[in-house]
Amino acid sequence: MQQIEQDQQKEQEITQNEMPDLIINPYEVVNNSKKQIDYDKLIQSFGCQRIEQSHIERIQTLTQKPVHHYLRRGIFFSHRDLNQVLDAYEAGKGFYLYTGRGPSGDSMHVGHLMPFIFTKYLQEAFDVPVVIELSDDEKFFHKSETTLEEYQRYGYENAKDIIACGFDINKTFIFLSSKYAGHMYHNICKFQHAITYSQLRGIFGLNESDNCGKVAYPAVQAAPSLSSSFKHIFGKDEVMCLVPQGIDQDPYFRMTRDVCYKLKVPKTGCIHSQFLPGLHGFGTKMGTTDPTSAIFLTDTPKQIEEKIKKHAMSGGGMTKKEHQEKGADLTVDVPYHYLRFFLEDDARLEEIRVQYGKGVMMTSEVKKELITVLTKIVTEHQQRRALVTDEMVEKFMELRPLNNYPPKKNN
Ligand code: TYM
Repeated sequence: MQQIEQDQQKEQEITQNEMPDLIINPYEVVNNSKKQIDYDKLIQSFGCQRIEQSHIERIQTLTQKPVHHYLRRGIFFSHRDLNQVLDAYEAGKGFYLYTGRGPSGDSMHVGHLMPFIFTKYLQEAFDVPVVIELSDDEKFFHKSETTLEEYQRYGYENAKDIIACGFDINKTFIFLSSKYAGHMYHNICKFQHAITYSQLRGIFGLNESDNCGKVAYPAVQAAPSLSSSFKHIFGKDEVMCLVPQGIDQDPYFRMTRDVCYKLKVPKTGCIHSQFLPGLHGFGTKMGTTDPTSAIFLTDTPKQIEEKIKKHAMSGGGMTKKEHQEKGADLTVDVPYHYLRFFLEDDARLEEIRVQYGKGVMMTSEVKKELITVLTKIVTEHQQRRALVTDEMVEKFMELRPLNNYPPKKNN
């Protein structure tokens, strides 16, 4: 067996043996522990690296801007080759950001928003080009609930939500993979040539009865990591790529990086975020099948309030007396956990942690705080989205140079 295959098999065995309560891959996130995922163990089993204070300080120094609270709080917690990407930036060669969304429906939830909020921060902080893949093909192969044309339509709808995050139209290229794949087919071929079916089976759990699209697709998610997939932006330059993503997407990029090594091109850099659980608790996930499991970007203030009040799993005591005596169990408390992700004010978050943890603050007060924070985020998002026209989406998708590449000399 080749070394890469052996490594991948080993990674899978480690994940299964050491973390029996946890399955994390692009198609399944199951956390049976009912508590927050043990991200230290996950780093070990995935073979990535923790983001250290030294990375955060380096980013702050290079960008001369305050770092995002996702970094300060360890929400973006792990990486692959982040230092190499920062080296390229420091050397004036620049880098680009690549992220994506699998358009499975008209509406996205607040968990989907996180990598885009963070990518937009990185775009502003480093002033680098961003490319965004809408993998309508992936959803068509894996869900098969509707036509490819319908997944394309979801892609356009989701593009409006992504644009509403504030991406700069002159520095961002968005594409539907079913429409753009031809432009990167040379790289798709190289990935498909370098990956065996048995590797894919190991990484993604595919089997003989899966459709061929599922087998072909991983190369389509890998190809945008090579700058030669975007000749209209980078010409012939070889530019390093950094992929902000939820940790569930990492298997795609482990595969990508192995092939980069074979192709003798720079390995794709990765930066991973923790997973936001469903409202019902750490062992649950967000999804459209149960609308009470998540806050969607289309929710009204009333829906947000009702969902949080009725459905957000609390770690508070069963009675007021018990709560005041023992305090809240923050390791299972969803409202506090959501505030870590969405409340930007560090001092207020710390106050809530201490007061709620001691039982001085009640669950209802913490929920009220979360309702205020999320209502503001979602309603402001809706206002920005309402201003995104079809013409703007077309413009973001137009093949064109971006005005921040090549990087300016003083980077
Ligand atoms: P998708 O549509 O499942 O998710 C889009 C992005 O959101 C992240 N995400 C979450 N992050 C935190 N908490 C959650 N609960 C949560 N749910 C989803 C995902 O990790 C992802 O970053 N195959 C991809 C689409 C894709 C892509 C890419 C993603 C194509 N190219 C490059 C990242 C980078 C997908 O179906 O994502």
